[in-house]
Amino acid sequence: METVHTIQWMKALAQDALVNERSLGLVPTMGALHEGHFSLVRAAKRKCSPVVVSIFVNPKQFGPSEDLKKYPRTFEADREALAGLGVDILFAPTSEEMYPAGFNTSVSVKGLSDRWEGRVRPGHFDGVATVVLKLFEIVQPRIAFFGRKDAQQARIIRQMATDLNLNTEIDLCPIVREPDGLALSSRNVYLSPDDRRAAVAISQALAACQGSISGGERDLANLLATMRAKLESEPRLTVDYAEIVDADSFEPVRVIRGNCYALIAAKVGGTRLIDNACIESESDAVRVLL
Ligand code: PAF
Repeated sequence: METVHTIQWMKALAQDALVNERSLGLVPTMGALHEGHFSLVRAAKRKCSPVVVSIFVNPKQFGPSEDLKKYPRTFEADREALAGLGVDILFAPTSEEMYPAGFNTSVSVKGLSDRWEGRVRPGHFDGVATVVLKLFEIVQPRIAFFGRKDAQQARIIRQMATDLNLNTEIDLCPIVREPDGLALSSRNVYLSPDDRRAAVAISQALAACQGSISGGERDLANLLATMRAKLESEPRLTVDYAEIVDADSFEPVRVIRGNCYALIAAKVGGTRLIDNACIESESDAVRVLL
């Protein structure tokens, strides 16, 4: 595996892949890699060659009171793991390389970026869209792989790719969970043992929603009540939102139709966690993916 720190060299390698008509896959990450990221790498390896993983803790997507400074950084362990998975190129630019003095551009996907995560974290999705567009320009991936845990992020990136006619296809991969259901996240390392026990209420709330739907429940108020009751039963949780939204518009739905997401964001201790379940419905058949 080659480790690349400069944009110029990364562009040269990407150009080489293009000229040789190879299908380059990109897995963008902020490091602190876990099984969720590794599943994206495996998906990329199945479909693409070469596979590039980027590690860049993007300052532009952190608010002033967020955890940029303490965000977990495990570069050497990440590099070893990626080499073991057969990644071809690790692209790890510095902040100065990505945002040199005078950098003055921001990409904003309107509407979708203002809701849910965007409302709680103003400017977050502009930071994400800006860095992802830069990564796409530098790496020129045929396919880029994102996790469904950040469903709103993936939807925004897909919108950007459509609006700007990018040559990159967005591949959305399943959520990877701990055996008790907690969605894997780099931020899980912040959880104290008590917080870790409490955090499982989030996926349990989604599982309760899934159970109700499997039992035939379609009434939205009842589904939301089931989800929220589970969350409220855990005193260590502070819920930011628990909603069912249309998978395209991310607006709350009145009835379950087409594809929807049950979205949850909650704080446990000082750690903010997000999770979701994907609800796929076609006529009377409804399938819920945790
Ligand atoms: O999901 C993430 O890890 C980040 O938001 C991303 C897509 C790598 C952009 O910094």
